Amino acid sequence: MQKFVITGGVPLGGEVRIAGAKNAVLKMMAAAVLTEQPVLLRNVPNISDVAILRELLGDIGFEVRRVNGDALELRAVEATWPFVPLEAGMKMRASFILLGPMLARFGRVILPNPGGDRIGRRPVNLHVAALEQMGATIVYRNGYYFASAPEEGLHAAQYEFPTVTVMGTENAMMAATLARGTTVLDNTALEPEVDDLIDMLRGMGAQIERTGERRVEIQGVPALRGTEHRVLGDRLEAETFAIAAAVTGGSITATGVNPTHLAAFLAVCDRMGIVYEADPDRGALTVHGSRGSELRAVDVQTDPYPGFATDFQAPLSVLMTQARGVSTIHETIFEDRLDHLRELVRMGAEIELLDERRARITGPTRLHGAEVGIADLRAGATLILAALTAEGTSVISGIEHVDRGYEQIEAKLVALGARINRIEA
Ligand code: UD1
Repeated sequence: MQKFVITGGVPLGGEVRIAGAKNAVLKMMAAAVLTEQPVLLRNVPNISDVAILRELLGDIGFEVRRVNGDALELRAVEATWPFVPLEAGMKMRASFILLGPMLARFGRVILPNPGGDRIGRRPVNLHVAALEQMGATIVYRNGYYFASAPEEGLHAAQYEFPTVTVMGTENAMMAATLARGTTVLDNTALEPEVDDLIDMLRGMGAQIERTGERRVEIQGVPALRGTEHRVLGDRLEAETFAIAAAVTGGSITATGVNPTHLAAFLAVCDRMGIVYEADPDRGALTVHGSRGSELRAVDVQTDPYPGFATDFQAPLSVLMTQARGVSTIHETIFEDRLDHLRELVRMGAEIELLDERRARITGPTRLHGAEVGIADLRAGATLILAALTAEGTSVISGIEHVDRGYEQIEAKLVALGARINRIEA
């Protein structure tokens, strides 16, 4: 098992190149299944979720290879084993994104219930409902979804998502690209990663467009072609470095990201008094730290895009520990996303958990180093940020979760002046 050892209190400064977005690239790798022609993805992050999906696609029978450093070439000619093993599904919930593309192209797939035995917490009922509307038969048995399309293939559907779901939207959209007729999806997700996927699907010849505020229309075509696509920059990684600058009193420029995708986060920065410069033309965001000057407390509620991202609620809590006054967090999307706060308390934060979705954070507090552990990706980034803020040395375990979504985070932090080491423990 590996751990990070971090000695905090150093202002971080310099420029950092943001990698391609995890939440886009995984769906794009799945989209490559929709055509038998080669697909080339550029700006592919070197993260373990990509490695897991790559292996999974290989096991199904597809070709996937790295070319020129950050590019990935995929070719899905034949699905020898249209099956996702439980182990892969447990490692990466996003493997469920293969449902739509596999059904549309090959007519069948067997997928495990994502999240293994933690049934109910991250449901996929809406993915299933949308695909059933397109004629799929999906039977759940012994922990697996056995999904098949009719002999003549999927057909178009009109479906309104009762809840906004990112992967549900993507699964349905991808399936509809090859379904007979025109599909209309309502109450779809608006995350920039969804729109980047739409761009890629268009490049493959899909007839797909947004025709209303949360409406997507897709006219099915008999086949899609190969394409080349550059994955958009990871807004969550950029926000992580922005907070690193703010809490350490440094100054960091993140490049390779579109700051307009960070609008909800930057609005919170405005309210807290964080100084930044956003340059959409250059694809850059510079954040200046405010150690010594006052950060203001703020109330934040998570919402689907363009609201404040649930993924970024945890890292923001570190900033809240440094702001004057009482900040509140209200997590509206997921139930289990406040666990990291207990670890922050162990580092000296003053936090009251009001219920499983709400917390109150009083600041400013001096954080101190501690031995802490994490259970997921964003909580991991949170503890790294807390350790960079804290006085003394922290030891963080569970860092394999961070490797799922952050490319070489310690190398990037070291280049900015951080004292961070990865150790075998
Ligand atoms: C994606 C992101 C994740 C982010 C989340 C919300 C990826 C790989 N992951 O996850 O980082 O935190 O969006 O922005 O892109 N829901 C149902 N039934 C379903 C599907 C979802 O009830 O079939 C509910 C969920 O429980 C949750 C809400 O819908 O309350 C939103 O979840 P969803 O947008 O689907 O999250 P993911 O796409 O899994």
